[in-house]
Amino acid sequence: NHIDHATPEKVQAAIAAGDTHAHLPDYETLAAYRDAGGYETLMSLRESGDWEAVQEKVKEAGLRGLGGAGFPSGTKWGFVRANEGTRYLAVNGDEGEPGTFKDRYYLERTPHLFLEGMLIAAWAVEAETCFIYMRDEYPAVLEILRREIAALEEAGIVAKGYIDLRRGAGAYICGEESAMIESIEGKRGLPRHRPPFVAQVGVFGRPTLVHNVETLYWVAKICREGPECLNSVEKNGRKGLRSYSVSGRVKNPGVHLLPAGSTITDIIEACGGMLDGHAFKAYQPGGPSSGLLPASLSDVPLDFDTLQPHGTFIGSAAVVVLSDQDSAKDAALNMLRFFEDESCGQCTPCRVGCEKAVKLMQAESWDQGLLEELSTAMVDASICGLGQAAPNPIRLTMKHFPDEV
Ligand code: NAI
Ligand code: SF4
Repeated sequence: NHIDHATPEKVQAAIAAGDTHAHLPDYETLAAYRDAGGYETLMSLRESGDWEAVQEKVKEAGLRGLGGAGFPSGTKWGFVRANEGTRYLAVNGDEGEPGTFKDRYYLERTPHLFLEGMLIAAWAVEAETCFIYMRDEYPAVLEILRREIAALEEAGIVAKGYIDLRRGAGAYICGEESAMIESIEGKRGLPRHRPPFVAQVGVFGRPTLVHNVETLYWVAKICREGPECLNSVEKNGRKGLRSYSVSGRVKNPGVHLLPAGSTITDIIEACGGMLDGHAFKAYQPGGPSSGLLPASLSDVPLDFDTLQPHGTFIGSAAVVVLSDQDSAKDAALNMLRFFEDESCGQCTPCRVGCEKAVKLMQAESWDQGLLEELSTAMVDASICGLGQAAPNPIRLTMKHFPDEV
């Protein structure tokens, strides 16, 4: 909590005053990581590794993009490698989906597992520079990364300047990969049309491998422990593990690493159950982008693809648990207010659509026909995922909580 409320200025002032303990978590430093065999994998790969063998391992593990889209990670490496000339790697550390805090969790504990994974991926695609785009709301993470990148340079593991740490400025849309790239280039973060994909035309027009923080954390683990660290776990017909960021009306919120086939029942159980006096009513499976599901859908495995039949997706696995003391209608309105605030304003269906939806959702009873029509226009005509996903809370609330709206 200390870190939650600290501003970058406060952290800097505390560090300047020699007070680091109160503000920085007790993370694994470079020395401790190396003592436990850290960076040996990277060194041996750099000396005599075969990138395609590593790519095969990553594919065999079933690693998928853990920012939320679940695109097969190894496949991306091939797309980037297919382009000649200067290539870059950009890490998306702009963990902005409300309720998501797994990247921060790992970075504040084992930053070098992520950094080694990043350097392995950079080696695999022969990236000339690694950009890390980290949200400024994580001042402790930024300080840890500054220190540990300097330590890597000092130890000769990377050349000075090879890792370029960039700070975001609090815009949710800069977590959209093409907007992030615009921001890295020093421009306003506006999403680009795709294709071309960033694997072909990314940072400064060059092919760029974009990965989320946690994805790279698993790259290092797979290289060190083998694909079995993920693919040997099986539950409800799903393979692998998911880092669920859980908040809301549960006894022990936090990051829970569970089998990818876990249901909301399993997740609530892992959190020690519901808070006393609260009965389970609804849940957000993956942040506001995924809308709200009712307690009656408590036996669905929460993994990539499994929520498609229910009109939503797991995304970044930001699970928020609501109880009988919460209003689904108010929660949906809150989500749309968030999208209204964070829309970059570039395209009309999203800019005007979010604003109009908020107005309609403030009414005592919703004009459901009009909201449905508006949702269709937003999904069909918005440029990026923000405008396309914003109607999820509207549609799912109308479907599952008709009595409230
Ligand atoms: P996407 O499916 O369009 O793309 C996923 C990745 O695969 C991108 O890197 C894209 O460049 C690549 N890709 C897809 N098709 C490709 C092709 N044919 N060739 C080369 N590369 C290709 O999804 P998007 O819009 O990047 O991400 C949406 C997800 O992000 C949502 O599921 C949402 O939950 C999540 N999200 C997560 C946030 C967080 O804080 N972690 C914040 C906001 C959204
Ligand atoms: Fe911007 Fe929204 Fe259009 Fe995305 S959908 S480009 S956030 S206005």
